[in-house]
Amino acid sequence: MIQPAEVVLSSDGIPFSAVFDDVYHTADGGLGQALHVFLAGNGLPQRWQGRDAFTILETGFGLGLNFLVTWQAWRCDPLRSRRLHFISVEKFPFLPQDLQRLHAAWPQFSSLSADLVKAWPPLSGGRHDLFLDEGSVQLTLLLGDAREQFPLLEAQADAVYLDGFAPSKNPDMWSLPIFEQLYRLAVPGCTLATWSVAGMVRNGLKQAGFAVCKTQGFGGKRQMLKGYREKS
Ligand SMILES: C[S@@+](CC[C@H](N)C(=O)[O-])C[C@H]1O[C@@H](n2cnc3c(N)ncnc32)[C@H](O)[C@@H]1O
Repeated sequence: MIQPAEVVLSSDGIPFSAVFDDVYHTADGGLGQALHVFLAGNGLPQRWQGRDAFTILETGFGLGLNFLVTWQAWRCDPLRSRRLHFISVEKFPFLPQDLQRLHAAWPQFSSLSADLVKAWPPLSGGRHDLFLDEGSVQLTLLLGDAREQFPLLEAQADAVYLDGFAPSKNPDMWSLPIFEQLYRLAVPGCTLATWSVAGMVRNGLKQAGFAVCKTQGFGGKRQMLKGYREKS
């Protein structure tokens, strides 16, 4: 049974999870974080330009803010790939009316948010494929625990967004079995990015086979992590 996420706000007004005792995005701004860490950290939009299809795999759909920012950047790019496939896993999905309420903080995404909310699936466990933007954007939502959902997935990811709450608060989402699944699902040359530079993240990713390096972080965070799967 899938338990929906509850809407709770931190004292700064940021969506907060009482289950994980952590905020859904940095106080410096979820939109800026998405652009700097997840898009730029994966060489986007450039890497999807001229391609037939481009696949992004995310750990933790949460508010769907990374998805909305990515979708918007993709549709504004005249050189975009013909199709965009965004795959994300979520153990505690929001109810559609809560997503709609939370997305009101970013009015620039109101039309995309409305389309997403309209297509939102029933909260039953497993894979749900949503076709958006006249079918050129596919959102695959894996509802359930990443440790159970990823082994069932077949995908060829070109980029990975690692966004599963702080590793200290949610170590399962940053564990070797998850990193090994991400490596299995990554094409050679696939990139990854995350705001965390924790030792367990760097070492786990390396152990799974990824090359990683630190680079300039977003907002108050001095550093972030980028990585890739070797081409051969
Ligand atoms: C920081 S939030 C993600 C924010 C999101 N990427 C966005 O753009 O709004 C982390 C998410 O990971 C989910 N999560 C945590 N542990 C999980 C697990 N083991 N399996 C699947 N989802 C998990 C949480 O419920 C939460 O929604």
